[in-house]
Amino acid sequence: MDLLHKFLNIVLLPITLTVLLLFMPPFLFLKFLWSLKRSIYRENVAAKVILITGASSGIGEYVAYEYAKRGARLALVARREDRLQAVADRARKLGSPEVVVVRADVSKVEECKQFVNEIVNYFGRLDHLVNNAGVSQICLFEVFTQFSDIASIMSCAVHMASLRGKSSHELPVKTSLIFNVVLSLHTLSQS
Ligand SMILES: NC(=O)c1ccc[n+]([C@@H]2O[C@H](COP(=O)([O-])OP(=O)(O)OC[C@H]3O[C@@H](n4cnc5c(N)ncnc54)[C@H](OP(=O)(O)O)[C@@H]3O)[C@@H](O)[C@H]2O)c1
Repeated sequence: MDLLHKFLNIVLLPITLTVLLLFMPPFLFLKFLWSLKRSIYRENVAAKVILITGASSGIGEYVAYEYAKRGARLALVARREDRLQAVADRARKLGSPEVVVVRADVSKVEECKQFVNEIVNYFGRLDHLVNNAGVSQICLFEVFTQFSDIASIMSCAVHMASLRGKSSHELPVKTSLIFNVVLSLHTLSQS
């Protein structure tokens, strides 16, 4: 065993460095070409239908404004309808030709299926799905004693089985892009 460890200590470093030197430059070059292509051939989202969950505040709200500036039609989903209406008003002012708001709780799978179908029936298409709704929590590991403390986070994660887990061909219509904003739970340790 000692011999094996000694052998690995000697060979692993040069092998890792060689692989890095061989693969990193072409990989970085291809990445650069890819980003160049994406900046030149930017997708025109004008009049496209974008469904954003968790659009009543935070990341979802500002994603909605960015799409609105580019002329996309929006379907905004969250539980606080008054907040959604305020976001919808601002999105219209920023340039979105059509905004619908849907009050729904994404932790309930049935509600997810229902609003996806409603939106598809209303617009007749769905181009982008932004799976953003959810809650983040940061707490000390020491105070994190109850699994039930993360029930709200987990229930939102469960809905992702119905939306986040979907690939575009499983939705009722063809969707060209699905963005998933990752749910997070951070526990920090005091020591
Ligand atoms: N901010 C960060 O640093 C960070 C880091 C990692 C991951 N994330 C993830 O990014 C996403 C957005 O974060 P954020 O910082 O923008 O949070 P935020 O400001 O709290 O916004 C969360 C949004 O999700 C909606 N939402 C929450 N639970 C919902 C439910 N059960 N049904 C429907 N809508 C629900 C909220 O609307 P209503 O309350 O009106 O329903 C709100 O619009 C979350 O998934 C979060 O986990 C954020």
